[in-house]
Amino acid sequence: MTNINGETQIVAFFGATYKTSKMYGMYNAAFEALGLNYVYVPFIVKDIEKAVEGVRHLGIRAVGVTIPYKITIIPYLDELDSEARRIGAVNAIVNTNGRLWGANTDGKGATKALQEVTTIARKKVVILGAGGAARSIAFAIADEGGSVVIVNRTKDAAVALAKAVDCQYATIDQLEQAIQDAHIVMNATSVGMVPADNESLIRKELLSPQLIVMDIISHPKETKLLKEAKEQGCKIVYGDRMLFWQGVLKFQLYTGVEPPIEVMEQAINNFQNYQG
Ligand code: ATR
Repeated sequence: MTNINGETQIVAFFGATYKTSKMYGMYNAAFEALGLNYVYVPFIVKDIEKAVEGVRHLGIRAVGVTIPYKITIIPYLDELDSEARRIGAVNAIVNTNGRLWGANTDGKGATKALQEVTTIARKKVVILGAGGAARSIAFAIADEGGSVVIVNRTKDAAVALAKAVDCQYATIDQLEQAIQDAHIVMNATSVGMVPADNESLIRKELLSPQLIVMDIISHPKETKLLKEAKEQGCKIVYGDRMLFWQGVLKFQLYTGVEPPIEVMEQAINNFQNYQG
């Protein structure tokens, strides 16, 4: 742990339900390894407007933001980066002399996770879901030159997202057809998350071995979708890799310093009781 003194800068984390011991370990290990005088402190926030006022009044250096505040925090900020603006959600705030700047590293976190096993350019990527998570990922994959197809239960949401990203869409009953010639399929819905962890939107038989299958869910680590994909011989990407990379990218925003990736990797692996 960093030696706390009068110069120590706080990086906070705003959530609503639980504190994030794994991220706490990851950031503080990184600060210590680089000799940065920062400390990472997670907060359970009751009133987001007042909490943002607190950031200004207390001079908190930066804040990680999670559900349910990623969208509702926006009116209280001064500026958004282009990523946060087009997604309409923020997962990080940086306080520069009292000006609060909102950013979003979720989409890039997902592409970094995928890039651990594959390239994205010219690949057909089927994304299940059209909510906030799917939105950030769809833009990021399109940026990398991937060809995105949005598949969603509610057609209107799929149409709207496909229009925003300028990509294709399909309905859930067209899923089989959509993944037939896909390279990558990704679950960006909440289906498969604890406590509904015995569910998957894709029938096992549809998972042919050449598919790369990613799930953004990290609780449980191995969702039903990923377990079945593994059994079918597919390469898989765990949701906790996206979480790791979106966190690494935030570190750079918070400190302006190149993240010590190996230190962060080791620290995150040391925390077994991971919740978020
Ligand atoms: P997030 O911000 O985490 O993406 P969200 O905006 O509430 O959360 O989006 C949830 C996504 O999961 C949506 O795409 C939703 O589909 P609908 O647009 O049809 O609601 C999808 N989803 C949630 N439960 C689902 C289920 N049981 N079957 C299919 N899709 C589901």
